[in-house]
Amino acid sequence: MRMVDLIEKKRNGLALTKEEIHFIIEEYTNDVIPDYQMSALLMAIFYEDMTNEEITNLTLAMANSGEMIDLSSIEGIKVDKHSTGGVGDTTTLILAPLVASVGAPVAKMSGRGLGYTGGTLDKLESIPGFKVEISDEDFIEIVNKSQVAVIGQSGDLAPADKKLYALRDVTATVDSIPLIASSIMSKKIAAGANAIVLDVTTGDGAFMKSIDEAKRLAHTMVRIGELSGRKTMAVISDMSQPLGEAIGNSLEVVEAIETLKGQGPEDLVEMCYVLGSQMVVLAKKAETLEEARELLKEALISGKALAKFREMIENQGGDTRVIDQPEMILTAQYAMDLPAKTSGVVTKLVANEIGIAAMMLGAGRQTKEESIDHAVGLKLHKKIGDAVVEGESLLTIYSNTQAIEAVKELLYKNIEIGVSAEEPQLIHDIITE
Ligand code: URA
Ligand code: CA
Repeated sequence: MRMVDLIEKKRNGLALTKEEIHFIIEEYTNDVIPDYQMSALLMAIFYEDMTNEEITNLTLAMANSGEMIDLSSIEGIKVDKHSTGGVGDTTTLILAPLVASVGAPVAKMSGRGLGYTGGTLDKLESIPGFKVEISDEDFIEIVNKSQVAVIGQSGDLAPADKKLYALRDVTATVDSIPLIASSIMSKKIAAGANAIVLDVTTGDGAFMKSIDEAKRLAHTMVRIGELSGRKTMAVISDMSQPLGEAIGNSLEVVEAIETLKGQGPEDLVEMCYVLGSQMVVLAKKAETLEEARELLKEALISGKALAKFREMIENQGGDTRVIDQPEMILTAQYAMDLPAKTSGVVTKLVANEIGIAAMMLGAGRQTKEESIDHAVGLKLHKKIGDAVVEGESLLTIYSNTQAIEAVKELLYKNIEIGVSAEEPQLIHDIITE
C-alpha cells in the first residue's frame, strides 16, 4: 500500500477501507508516514468527509495505537463522560462522587488540557495533597472499594491522536467533524469505558458555534460509540455564557463542594442532573432518566454525594478539611469587584472571552510547559437575563497581582448590559440513537 494512492483516493471522494485506515494510523504513529503526507490526507478528509464506517474504523485504529486500559476487573458497567469543552465547566468534579454515590462505578481518566482554565486534574490538584498520578492497579482497587477515582491519563493512551491533534492544530484541520469525533471517541474507548455520555457544547465558548453543527457532531459520536459496542448518549448544551458562577481551579472546587451541599448555581445543578441521569441509566442503576434523576436528587439532599466526595479526596491523599472549610483553598492575594458601568439587564457574557480573562490572571495555560495559579479566577455575580444597578458588582476577580487593567478591559468589552434578555436555554437537545 502506498500513502500517495490513499491520499488520491480520499481526494477523489472515495471511502477508505478498514485495512487502509489501519495502515495509515499504524505507519503514521511509527513515524513511517511523514507529516506532509498526513497533512494532505487530513485536508482531503476535511473537504471530502468520511462515511460512518470510515469514522468508526479510524476511531478504533487510533484507540488501538497505544495502551488499551482494561477495567474489566471493576464490577459493573463503567460509564465515562466527556465534554467537548467549555468555560467554568465544573461538572466532572460533581458528577464523579454524585454518580458513584448511587452505586454506578466511576473510573475516570482525565486530562489537564490547554485552554482557558485548567482541566479536571488541575482543579483537583488545588486540593492540598490530592494525587492524580496513581498506578493502574491502585486505581482499580480504589474504584472497587469506593466506586470512584479520578486520575491522570496514562501517557500512552491513543498516541496516534496526540500526534494527529498537534498536526491538525497547525494545518487548519481541527474543525472537521470526522476528525473531532474520532479524536474524542478513540480516547474514551482506549480508557476502557463500557458506556459513554457526551456533552456537546455549542455557542461562543465551544468548538461548535451552531446548534446544527453540534447536533451533527453528537450524532456522529453516538453512532461511533454504538458501532464499537459502547452504549452512548449525548446532550447538546449551551456554552454561550460560562457554566455556573466560578471560573478558575480552586474557585471551581469550592463551587463543586457547594453544589454537593445542595447550594449550587441553578444551571450547573441542572447540567449535573441531566448528564448524571444518563450516566446512571447507562450503568443500569435506573430504568428511566426520571428515575435516575430522583436517585441523584436524593443523594444530593441526603449528603450521600458529599460524603462520597470526602471519601474520594481521602482515597487520593487530599486534605478533607476542604469539605468543611472550602475557603481554605481560596488563597488569592486580592479579591476585586468589577462594578457595572450602567443599570439594565445583562444581555451578553461571552464565554470564551471571559475564559481568556481568567487565563490572563493565570488560571489556565497556553503551552504544556506553563504552570497554573490554582487560586486565581473569576466569580460571576450576574448571568444573562439578570438585572443590574450601576455600581453593583458584576463579578469578583481573584488575582495575585493588582495589575489587572487589561483583564478588566477585556471583561467590560464582553459583558453587555442592555434593556432585556432571555435566560439562554441550557439544554438544546438529547441524542440517544
Ligand atoms: N477535543 C479532542 O480531544 N479532540 C478534538 O479534535 C477536539 C476536541
Ligand atoms: Ca463553574
